[in-house]
Amino acid sequence: MGNHQSLISFAQLKHTLIILMADNAKIILEGNEYELPVFTGSEGEKAIDISDLRAKTGYITLDIGYKNTGATTSGITFLDGEEGILRHRGYSIEDLAAKASFLEVAYLLLNGELPTRQQFDDFDNAIREHTLVNEGLEGMFKAFPTGSHPMGQLNSMISALGLFYPKSLNPNRPEDAINRTVLRLLAKMPTICAMIYKKRSGHPIIYPKNNLDYVSNYLNMTFAQVTMDHYQPDPVIVDAMNKLLILHADHEQNCSASTVRMVGSSQSNLYSSIAAGIAALWGPLHGGANQEVLEMLELIRQDGGDVQKWVNKAKDKNDNFRLMGFGHRVYKNFDPRAKIIKKTCDDVLNKLGVHDPVLEIAKKLEETALTDPYFVERKLYPNVDFYSGIIYRAIGFPTDFFTVLFALGRLPGWISQWQEMRREKQPIARPRQIYTGEVPRNFKFMQDR
Ligand code: CMC
Repeated sequence: MGNHQSLISFAQLKHTLIILMADNAKIILEGNEYELPVFTGSEGEKAIDISDLRAKTGYITLDIGYKNTGATTSGITFLDGEEGILRHRGYSIEDLAAKASFLEVAYLLLNGELPTRQQFDDFDNAIREHTLVNEGLEGMFKAFPTGSHPMGQLNSMISALGLFYPKSLNPNRPEDAINRTVLRLLAKMPTICAMIYKKRSGHPIIYPKNNLDYVSNYLNMTFAQVTMDHYQPDPVIVDAMNKLLILHADHEQNCSASTVRMVGSSQSNLYSSIAAGIAALWGPLHGGANQEVLEMLELIRQDGGDVQKWVNKAKDKNDNFRLMGFGHRVYKNFDPRAKIIKKTCDDVLNKLGVHDPVLEIAKKLEETALTDPYFVERKLYPNVDFYSGIIYRAIGFPTDFFTVLFALGRLPGWISQWQEMRREKQPIARPRQIYTGEVPRNFKFMQDR
């Protein structure tokens, strides 16, 4: 094959045969047989290790959108899309959402084990020490145009935060220095999210109160006013926020986590890697869907609430409309996070005595779609974003702020993914391509074209 690059498209196997055996796979290309190792994960998932394929055969694999590509091995999160299973470090998402606090889950993701009481107190206290941000960071708000999207602001603020800690821009520092950066990020993210919220409403910033727990402190910085003598976040809201943050904490190699790993693989610093993750999350097909869902539900309500009409639009291939909050790259049965959120949504709205007409529309939409052959055949189910926005709205968050809350929850996951990649000394991520452009041709001067 020489240096020629050829391609195996698994969708169109023609002169290629792959035989999967217990511990290796055989591939026959143009009459030649090659053996490739098979890698088996701790939950029995199998992968053909193709890292040597090009060197041995001249072929690469083609998988646009990485639909069938394992970019890494990982010990953080297990997800079985067929069975609707999500586990962090072996613990089910159902257990974690019911029994743990968000900071406990953050500790678990970062360290691999649930903390003892002493370990938790040390972690929690260390985070409390770092909640303030440099006053200089507030100057950023002068530069943002009025009405800038909070995710754009968050992305810039996290990137800028790193500039206040120039030494931390070197990711090759000893583990305890990296851990300090991790604590800083975890501690300052709620402060920054709350600053963005306050600035968008033109209100003075509320400083962190370090006698409060992580979630209560965040709610206090967001909803307390300097004019108030006292603000006490409703325990129902604290509990719901804890649950929502846990449900968003990690989701293995999704678009933003892969982005964080990819950016970090060039030895870019942790702040920039997280900022890149925030940018990836913002997109409407990923975390940005939570904003889109609520806007869609509102649109349907204002249009008279004819759910079937919008389901028909989502099915129409000549119509760009998609049912936001529906479908998932990996879940093909149900999204376990969506199940928990739907129940939490009912509980929270009941406890707060909130009647939101879009909840009825959401339920009708889910019912209609789940009995429609289009959605059944394509295995499209409500995902984590379908009901979360209704809870955020009941708590008092504006629609364009929802994705910021997703980012706040996802932060420990992104950091854990980045740390795993760095600790394993993974190489720079650099996919290949199959070139489909022009073959060599001669340059012509402008007057000759
Ligand atoms: N509404 C209507 N049709 C859909 C939808 C939808 N929400 N999602 C997928 N389809 C159709 C799609 O048109 C395609 O049909 P066909 O086979 O006839 O061409 C088929 O289902 C497969 O879709 P796909 O786009 O190839 O699937 P994907 O794995 O590339 O995309 C997805 C997954 C989540 C981007 C997609 O389902 C989607 O756009 N959903 C709406 C946006 C959304 O809710 N995103 C949040 C995802 S969960 C939060 C997180 O990011 O973690």
